[in-house]
Amino acid sequence: MLRKPTLRICEFSITPECQSNCEFCYASKFYREGQPLLSLDEIRNTWKQAKALGAFSSVVFGGEPLLHPQFFDIIRILEPKKHIVTITTNAISLTEELVVNLKREGVFLINFSLNSLDPAENDKLRGFQGHFDKVMQGIEICKRHGMDVFLPVATAKSRFQETLDIVKFAREKGVGVTVNLMCAMGRAEGQHEELFDEEFWVKLRALYNANPDLRSDYDVNLDLKVGCPAGFEKIHIAPYGDVTGCSMNPVSFGNVREEPLAKIVERMRHFHHFSKRHPSCIVAVDKDFITDYMDFGARYSTLPYPVRENPKYIEDNKGKV
Ligand SMILES: C[S@@+](CC[C@H](N)C(=O)[O-])C[C@H]1O[C@@H](n2cnc3c(N)ncnc32)[C@H](O)[C@@H]1O
Ligand code: SF4
Repeated sequence: MLRKPTLRICEFSITPECQSNCEFCYASKFYREGQPLLSLDEIRNTWKQAKALGAFSSVVFGGEPLLHPQFFDIIRILEPKKHIVTITTNAISLTEELVVNLKREGVFLINFSLNSLDPAENDKLRGFQGHFDKVMQGIEICKRHGMDVFLPVATAKSRFQETLDIVKFAREKGVGVTVNLMCAMGRAEGQHEELFDEEFWVKLRALYNANPDLRSDYDVNLDLKVGCPAGFEKIHIAPYGDVTGCSMNPVSFGNVREEPLAKIVERMRHFHHFSKRHPSCIVAVDKDFITDYMDFGARYSTLPYPVRENPKYIEDNKGKV
C-alpha cells in the first residue's frame, strides 16, 4: 500500500444546487443546463470502482448536499458502516432528526463551513442571513448526539485573522478545524491577490506548528509525506460525472459516464502537475498550474472543463491527447 499509488479518498459533489450565495464559492459554475445528475446506480458503480482502486473513505458535498432529494440513499451507497463517510454542509437545512439518522447510518463526523465569528460578517461572506446561527445550532445538536464536528475554514491572506479566531473558538468548543486555502475558481475566479505568497505560507506554518491537530488536504499521505494528494490518493466526482483531482480543481480528466474510473485515474497520474506532488495545495499555491489551468477555466460557463481542451495540456502531451 505504501509503495504503489493507492486511492484513499473519493469526494462526491452530489448536486450543484445551493441556498447560499457565498462570495468566493468555487462550485458556482457546477450547474449544467439540461443534464441529469449522476443517478444512484451511477454513484454506486463509481464508488465500487473507487474501492477497487483502494478508496476507503468518501466526502459528500456539492453545492449543498442536504438539498439532494436522495441524500440518504447516497449516504447508504457509500457504506458508512464499513467505510469512512463525512459530509460537508452549510448547516442551513440541518435538523436534529437528520443528525440522528446520519449517526444511525454510521456517519460519525460532519463538517460545518464557517468563515467568521462575527455573525454579520460571516453571513455577508456566505450570502445567507442566519448562516452563523445555523452553524452554532448544528454544533450543539451534534454535541447532544455524540457526532464529531469539524469546521472547514476557507482561508486567504485577507481572511487570516478570522481563521486564527475560528481555530481558538473551535478549541474552546471541543470541535476540530480543517484549513482550506482559497482557490481562484467559480466566484473567486481570477482573485490572485487573495492567494498564497511566502509571507502567508510562513504565517500558515506558524499556525500549523502551534496547532498540531489542525487538518488540511495536504496533510500526511499514505506514503507518509506531506503534499497534494490530487489524482493519486484523492479524486473528486463532480455532479455530472466529471473526475477531477479535488473539488477545488476545475480540470476534468474524463467522465465516469464514458470511461472506466481506472482509465481516468491512470490519465491523471501521468499529469505532471499531479505527479510532482506539490508540497501544499496545487490549486491555491502552484503558480504555473493556476496560470495555465485554473485561469483557463474562466472562459467556461460551466466547470469542470475537459483537460484535452487546455492549450498547455495539448502542447505538453503532443500526439498523446
Ligand atoms: C463548495 S462547499 C460545498 C459544501 C457546502 N455547501 C458548504 O458550504 O459547506 C465545500 C467547502 O468549500 C469551501 N469553499 C468554497 N469556495 C471556496 C474557494 N474558492 N476556495 C476554498 N474553499 C472554498 C466552502 O466554504 C466549504 O467549506
Ligand atoms: S460554499 Fe457551499 S454554501 Fe457557499 S455557495 Fe458554495 S456550495 Fe453553497
